[in-house]
Amino acid sequence: MKDATGAIRLQPTKSEFREHSGPIFMTSSFQYSSAEEAEAYFSGKIEGDIYSRFSNPNTTELIDKMCHLEQLPSGVATASGMAAIFATLSAHLKSGDLVVASGSLFGNTLYILQNILPNWGINVILVDIKDKERWEKAIGKKPKMVLIETPSNPGLQLIDLAWLSGLSHQHNSIFAVDNCFATPIIQKPALFGADMVLHSATKFIDGQGRVLGGIVLGKEEFITPVFDFLRRTGASLSPFNAWILSKSLETLEVRMERHSKNALSLARELESHSGITSVSYPFLESHPDLTLAKKQMKWGGGVLCCNLKGDKSHAFNFINSLSLLSITANLGDTRTIVTHPATTTHSKLSPEERVKSGITDTTLRFSVGLESIDDIINDITDALEKSNIE
Ligand SMILES: Cc1ncc(COP(=O)(O)O)c(C=O)c1O
Repeated sequence: MKDATGAIRLQPTKSEFREHSGPIFMTSSFQYSSAEEAEAYFSGKIEGDIYSRFSNPNTTELIDKMCHLEQLPSGVATASGMAAIFATLSAHLKSGDLVVASGSLFGNTLYILQNILPNWGINVILVDIKDKERWEKAIGKKPKMVLIETPSNPGLQLIDLAWLSGLSHQHNSIFAVDNCFATPIIQKPALFGADMVLHSATKFIDGQGRVLGGIVLGKEEFITPVFDFLRRTGASLSPFNAWILSKSLETLEVRMERHSKNALSLARELESHSGITSVSYPFLESHPDLTLAKKQMKWGGGVLCCNLKGDKSHAFNFINSLSLLSITANLGDTRTIVTHPATTTHSKLSPEERVKSGITDTTLRFSVGLESIDDIINDITDALEKSNIE
């Protein structure tokens, strides 16, 4: 089955009611017909759902679809994207281990790496995403895990997945990729050698800004420790959220195509505006890694960032002059969103760390929605004019 077909047609067995669309299994636990049967489930002699902290038909359906899309055999669903990242790191790393990660990561991922893992005796090296020599040097120290985002949040910087997975495997490191911005419709890191693929399903997978969720995918040997960690520590996904996310996957391909088309049109428009000093979008002709983008991504995705002329006050005036766009920290919604990363999503980083991630006081991140592109562009160009950014 192709991506869209699997995302629509992979469903659990129908119940006695012959439902066409999959139902929600809002149940904490599953019942047994006898004490012997309960024992058999708990001992693993019979495979099946026991308790929704471990598994549930709705989370299984979501995981099956995501495995199909990412072309990976195993997965677990988590309460949020951060739970997916935290569970992956916690399940695989122990005191004395080293993790090498990109310096261009979502702010809370950096927080875990810099403020939580070191307390547990785990060593962390952050590498400038563009510095190949530093990647080689850091991975030469044989880390247990290498963690990256490509495209990165919010700078839309790219890294060569095939190159980095080769380097990681040369040193027996697990290569983990947060594929939140691209989604498996646009980029399948496993095809370039990634061992684990992580998602904040809260973003494009939900696509309508309704629920939190996360997914971790990989070969069984990498997923079993994460499953064991989650079933005991509890950050599992609720069946209701899993049901929403599975329904959303049915439209992921058509949505990502439209998000990407709108984002490319907006990126081109912004690039030609005199009030904008730079635009970063993977499929823009001026992106330094356009060739790489076209090698590992099908489309450019729904997020872009740009720098405005002026200072922080100009950026704030611009944001406050918008009338259609939403001011919020989420992304991957049907509604176009503007975010000022330096004072919101990445505010906990030091100014130096922000610069390394490509964020200044005039950087804006747009998550381009599914509205008519004319309305999106008009709102932005009107706001640039109203805030005297020319
Ligand atoms: C790249 C990336 N990874 C992970 C997360 C965390 O996801 P969640 O908000 O679902 O915990 C985010 C959130 O913005 C993100 O942008």
